[in-house]
Amino acid sequence: MKIKNICCIGAGYVGGPTMAVIAEKCPGVKVTVVDINEKRIKQWNDPDVEKIPIYEPGLSSIVKETRDKNLFFSTDVDKAIDEADMIFISVNTPTKTYGIGKGMAADLKYIELCARQIAAVAKNDKIVIEKSTLPVRTAAALKNILDNTGNGVKYQILSNPEFLAEGTAVEDLKSPDRVLIGGDIESEEGREAMEALVNIYASWVPKEKILTTNVWSSELSKLTANAFLAQRVSSINAISELCEKTGADVNEVAKAVGMDSRVGPKFLKASVGFGGSCFQKDILNLVYIARTYNLQEVADYWEQVIIMNDHQKRRFAANMVQTMYNTVAGKKIAILGWAFKKDTNDTRESAAIYVADYLLNEQAEIVVYDPKVTEEQIYSDLDYLGSRSGDANRKGVTVVKSSYEACDNAHAIAVLTEWDEFKQLDWKKIYDQMLKPAFLFDGRRLLEPKTKKEIGFEFYAIGN
Ligand code: UDX
Ligand code: UDX
Ligand code: ADP
Repeated sequence: MKIKNICCIGAGYVGGPTMAVIAEKCPGVKVTVVDINEKRIKQWNDPDVEKIPIYEPGLSSIVKETRDKNLFFSTDVDKAIDEADMIFISVNTPTKTYGIGKGMAADLKYIELCARQIAAVAKNDKIVIEKSTLPVRTAAALKNILDNTGNGVKYQILSNPEFLAEGTAVEDLKSPDRVLIGGDIESEEGREAMEALVNIYASWVPKEKILTTNVWSSELSKLTANAFLAQRVSSINAISELCEKTGADVNEVAKAVGMDSRVGPKFLKASVGFGGSCFQKDILNLVYIARTYNLQEVADYWEQVIIMNDHQKRRFAANMVQTMYNTVAGKKIAILGWAFKKDTNDTRESAAIYVADYLLNEQAEIVVYDPKVTEEQIYSDLDYLGSRSGDANRKGVTVVKSSYEACDNAHAIAVLTEWDEFKQLDWKKIYDQMLKPAFLFDGRRLLEPKTKKEIGFEFYAIGN
């Protein structure tokens, strides 16, 4: 089966970059990305490609090349579904904030809405692919909804988990470690659908890197991969606290441990805590599923990864307050970096949100600078926590346009995202602008300690 028309529902951090790369690599396939958010689609169609809603290195140039040739962005969801042979679902699946599974289970309402919309519109057979991160057995739920519409249309449901990391999404998509496709391997139709998707990826990914398996293995692999990665960060962060007490240096420990080829060097960088839309959500999902099957030890084991991460964020903020003579009330504190990692404008679950919230509770005056995150986003992140009124957040937090402006007259600086530009700052100039003693807290082990101490900073870094 040759795919000519792809539709992707959801023009976000996953759908946008993934479809742009598919369009680039498969010029013979028409790719339409749809979203109910009109503003977002308008931004994707902005004549100035630098204004597309998602910042990812390399993305705007691909969009420039492919847009309106074989890549289209639209709000006409029904039309795109009707035309497509293959439909990717990449809508958001936030953690439930209400009812059963609150704070743990993924909220599948957006996925279900998509399934019902597909069921209402489709007139010919479709391959439907779950691309969002989803709890195990979502494909089965999708199938159930689609198979019971009674209009004779046949669906094949595939799971095709996303392994791209934000900030390197384009690179990850162009040369993935592997592509995973889960489907109904028992049936002829299932195998055909999987083959159709394999052929799309085979346009640029070597065949041996494309794995096919059953749906449940595919879904669980995604959760497990993220749980393992997050577990490594929490493990090294646990050791960072011990390092601070003992005089060991966490970077040295990580280096020595990572050189064991059985362990490997990646994801051993101590930090103020992991963020992003996936790690916490996926582990919570894993914990929720384990509890559902009454596997308490399994659930507790993975839950500890989140507990450790929450502790790391809290203890970083608490250490700031303690170091500054147990009070930050009325003190100006500059936060450099709000995104959950560098090279993205995504802030979901960013450690900066929680550190700022803690400091606001201590009545600090916060000034934030991030090279890619908007003021509107920063306030919306704080409002979402619900710790205080929107007015109080706007009173307590100012957002500025440069690091120098943020640090002017500040008592302390907290570096919370590892943006490269923070390394290049004129730190002597910043020191001279600050109140003394000038405190500098590095939550990312980004800055070189020796030179900062020589300038005169009271310098603190995670795990040192
Ligand atoms: C370990 C460390 O590997 C070694 O570097 C250190 O110096 C001493 O401790 P050892 O205990 O001899 O070495 O063997 P190892 O290969 O690490 O296995 C330890 C246990 O883990 C064994 O029971 C092994 O069967 C088990 N294991 C190991 C697994 O169950 N699964 C695995 O994937 C790997
Ligand atoms: C992650 C997975 O890497 C990706 O495969 C999956 O598809 C989605 O989830 P992402 O969340 O975009 O990607 O970024 P990632 O690079 O994994 O970083 C997650 C968080 O961990 C960031 O806050 C990052 O700063 C932090 N981190 C990562 C560390 O603190 N230390 C590390 O060594 C690595
Ligand atoms: P992710 O990181 O998973 O891509 P995002 O929140 O960035 O998550 O993107 C998900 C997108 O899906 C949002 O732009 C949202 O408007 C869109 N979306 C959610 N539900 C639907 C729906 N039923 N139809 C079309 N688009 C939807």
